[in-house]
Amino acid sequence: MASIGQDILFAKQLLEKGELVAIPTETVYGLAANALDAEAVSKVFIAKGRPTFDPLIIHVSSDIQLDRYAKDIPALARKLTKHFWPGPLTLVLNKREAIPDIVTSGLDTVGIRCPDHYLTQQLLAQLDFPIAAPSANPFGYVSPTTAAHVNEQLGDKISYILDGGPCRIGIESTIVGFHDELPIVYRRGGVPEEAIERIAGKIESNLVSTSNPKAPGQLESHYAPRKPFELGDINALAAKHKGKKIGVIRFRKGEFEGPHEYFLSEKGDLAEAAQRLFSTLRQLDQTDLDLVIAEKVPDIGIGKAINDRLMRASAKSS
Ligand code: TXA
Ligand code: MG
Repeated sequence: MASIGQDILFAKQLLEKGELVAIPTETVYGLAANALDAEAVSKVFIAKGRPTFDPLIIHVSSDIQLDRYAKDIPALARKLTKHFWPGPLTLVLNKREAIPDIVTSGLDTVGIRCPDHYLTQQLLAQLDFPIAAPSANPFGYVSPTTAAHVNEQLGDKISYILDGGPCRIGIESTIVGFHDELPIVYRRGGVPEEAIERIAGKIESNLVSTSNPKAPGQLESHYAPRKPFELGDINALAAKHKGKKIGVIRFRKGEFEGPHEYFLSEKGDLAEAAQRLFSTLRQLDQTDLDLVIAEKVPDIGIGKAINDRLMRASAKSS
């Protein structure tokens, strides 16, 4: 198992030596390596069991570093960083040569974000390189939102986990790319599309893709728990699976509460539901239930990103 703590200097030393460190962010925990060190980055792919065609995003301490790693930056991209950085927005931009090909899987673009977490910000401020970090989970599984989640699955593959407590947002960053300067959402996430549209105007999305995806976070089956998982009308699904031991994930508490019911937010708050989504899926994976059924949450704001993850979680089973 990895050691866990808040020792930024130790994390810095490990990264400088080309080792992996798990880091907290406001979205989910990341599995970090020196983004300018190809050999260190290759360890990330190995530890996660991640195919090398799936590019990593790099994390920087502020928008001042944008021009060091990206070029041809659209004015709108800069505007978005002013509004949303630090925060859960990743921009896909044309990359500069400083970024090794292994980070971007040979693409000419690189995903960049500036995380909003005090510990990781302190760490980044002391490094003279950006860090490449995918979510710190085995490829295809649910992202970790606590240090303990990281330790359970990747603890034997990394030496240190920087513990920043439970992640505040709980769902990965929103990914936005540009085609001819026009913004396109590749992955729904922590920044709601409505918030981006207030600044960028109407924005297109390109979310579903089955082969050669722009963002494999777009793979239809991803963020998947191990238990059979079905999404739909709770009563209909419960009737369909009568006789089985069923776990139920509801958005909020209703009048009637059956056995094995889990509420993403008792009071019906979407931000709280996002924060609790992945830990609830993990918790249910550790029970002896036969399957899990869930209902969608209201499809507004961050609710769209929650529904996206619920759909992908159910894609393997249905
Ligand atoms: O919130 C987050 O974004 C977290 C935290 C740790 O920062 N990171 C994260 O990384 O979710 P990851 O690797 O699990 O998901 C990043 C997604 C992947 O689906 C990848 O395919 C996509 O970003 N991506 C990275 N670079 C890209 C690029 N140049 N073009 C298109 N998609 C890209
Ligand atoms: Mg991931």
